Amino acid sequence: MRRGGPHSLIGSDPAAVAGAKLDRAVVRRVWRFAAPYRRAIALFVGVIAASALLGLVPPLLFREILDEAIPAGDRRLLNLLAGLVVGAAFVDAGLALAERWLSARIGEGIIYDLRVALFDHVQRMPMSFFTRAQTGALHSRLSNDVLGAQRAVTGTLSSVVSNVITLVANGAAIVLLEWRFAVISLVLLPLFIVPAKRVGRRLQELTREQMELNASMNTTISERLNVAGALLVKLFGRHDDETRDFAERAHGVRTVGVRSAVYGRTFFVALGLVGALATASVYWIGGLLVISDALTVGTLVALAAFVGRIYGPLTQLTNVRVEVMTALVSFERVFEVLDTPSPVQDRPGAYDLVAPLGRIELDDVRFAYPDQPIVASLEATPVNGDAGRRRALVLDGVSATIEPGQMVALVGPSGAGKTTLSQLVPRLYDVTGGAIRIDGHDVRDLTQESLRAAIGVVSQDPHLFHDTIRNNLRYARPDATEEELMAAVRAAQIDGLVASLPEGLDTLVGERGYRLSGGEKQRLAIARMLLKDPAIVILDEATSHLDAENEALVQEALATALAGRTSLVIAHRLSTIAAADQILVLDGGRIVQSGTHEELLEEGGLYADLYRTLMREEAAAEAEQALSEASDTEPPDERLSDLIYPPRV
Ligand SMILES: Nc1ncnc2c1ncn2[C@@H]1O[C@H](COP(=O)(O)OP(=O)(O)OP(=O)(O)O)[C@@H](O)[C@H]1O
Ligand SMILES: [Mg+2]
Repeated sequence: MRRGGPHSLIGSDPAAVAGAKLDRAVVRRVWRFAAPYRRAIALFVGVIAASALLGLVPPLLFREILDEAIPAGDRRLLNLLAGLVVGAAFVDAGLALAERWLSARIGEGIIYDLRVALFDHVQRMPMSFFTRAQTGALHSRLSNDVLGAQRAVTGTLSSVVSNVITLVANGAAIVLLEWRFAVISLVLLPLFIVPAKRVGRRLQELTREQMELNASMNTTISERLNVAGALLVKLFGRHDDETRDFAERAHGVRTVGVRSAVYGRTFFVALGLVGALATASVYWIGGLLVISDALTVGTLVALAAFVGRIYGPLTQLTNVRVEVMTALVSFERVFEVLDTPSPVQDRPGAYDLVAPLGRIELDDVRFAYPDQPIVASLEATPVNGDAGRRRALVLDGVSATIEPGQMVALVGPSGAGKTTLSQLVPRLYDVTGGAIRIDGHDVRDLTQESLRAAIGVVSQDPHLFHDTIRNNLRYARPDATEEELMAAVRAAQIDGLVASLPEGLDTLVGERGYRLSGGEKQRLAIARMLLKDPAIVILDEATSHLDAENEALVQEALATALAGRTSLVIAHRLSTIAAADQILVLDGGRIVQSGTHEELLEEGGLYADLYRTLMREEAAAEAEQALSEASDTEPPDERLSDLIYPPRV
């Protein structure tokens, strides 16, 4: 037994492969994938075979010692034979090392190839994939399935090859030495196979259960113990309930853990027991044959060794189908992702957008969020995915033209489709109907790289990587010089903050780093965008009200950022809206009004309503702020009611 024991069963899951058929296409795909490793694999199989065959040598040498050297009192022959046994042991050790080295090289190589290919491919998937993909499933595809595929090649392949060769070689040796023993071994066979199969299956069930319970426990841990989750638990005072719920899940893990430990040991104990039984019967029946002079002692010892060696491989080969299928399922799941092309791709013949002026044309743009999953097994069922039902149009016939250098404000109620429209310009999604043109070129005719280089986006809640400010800024332009970085930081009005940080540009920010306020983050994002220096800027203004000082800083940063560029601003602040050359009012996926601030105000309707609401909100926010500045002197409660709800005179 080379790769023995129940651990070879763990991770293979009969339920997951039940009904799965050996798919020729997948096998061919795996074979093609393994192309760079074919020579190494051939060598690997050769080494395994050599090592399995070498296993036959020592028992035969022992037979010579017992039957020839000892009875003849031949010391020289004895020395020679013993020396050969030692030599065989050394060669076997060498082969074992070579085998491990080869399997590691092939295995790690495959993991590397699959991981990098998957990462690269998944990264290029369109946004709709990421909004729907389940993070857990995606992670497991990148780690567990890749490992499963690797195990298929190194573990399963080597176990199958070595077990088959060991079995055939030992079986042949038994038949050649004494055919009657072959019959005895066959009679004892079910004693091995039946319990091995039983326990193996139960162990697989337990392993599956264990993995599911662990996953559910881990989901709770990661959901509840991150910053946002912990905050929610605290604010709602749910500590006790959370602990109870967690204890319940952990309890399941404990129960299954105990059961699987016992079953795992049962497997070994049963195997050892039946092995002892087989050895006893071989010596018993063989002993009788030796007494009646039908067998030599040496042959008996060799036979006992050979018989002992066929049961291990036999028990392991009983599960080989499940193992091979599990391995193929892993491969299939990895290839499912790798072989799905991204729907948003450069067209054949796509060309670069050179020296863009930044004229944006929206031509009868219609859009519905895609309802077909891209990789079904990774994505949640889409909300509007009912087959046959018409997908709801989020944008329905939007037309507008933004001239180079113009600043256009996009306003409208929540859910109107503003963010959606802004995402269609850099082609994060493809339009369902109509077209978006930049400088007269349909964005679908351009290379994505040149298109995205021409557009700078500052989103509502910009993301910063867990890295230094410097590296976050350099993400836009890796070769930016220190002067360029500082110029961008100054233009974005964030230089004051950077100077106040003890480590300046080298301060870590992002998820686990220094926490920037909303306004600071947005100014940093503006600095990053300035380094990119795009012809077109798309900005999703923060909805939350900034304090007056921050607001003034952001406003100033924006003025620099937008100067000389075409810009589309999803505006929530009066000052931004008033500064726009043109205002588009979006409602229910259609442009209901457009024009300048004065024109629209005169026209009345939705814009005038929105404007009045914003006026009131900003006035209230200012009042609140005035209050907080004066709050050290007076009890806040009274002042709050005074200012926000002024008493009627
Ligand atoms: N990934 C998505 N899949 C399906 N529907 C979506 C998706 N994202 C947004 N929607 C829907 O599209 C509509 C427009 O959303 P959008 O985010 O563009 O609104 P918005 O105008 O930016 O609103 P807000 O001012 O609140 O940011 C909404 O009804 C929303 O529910
Ligand atoms: Mg939005």
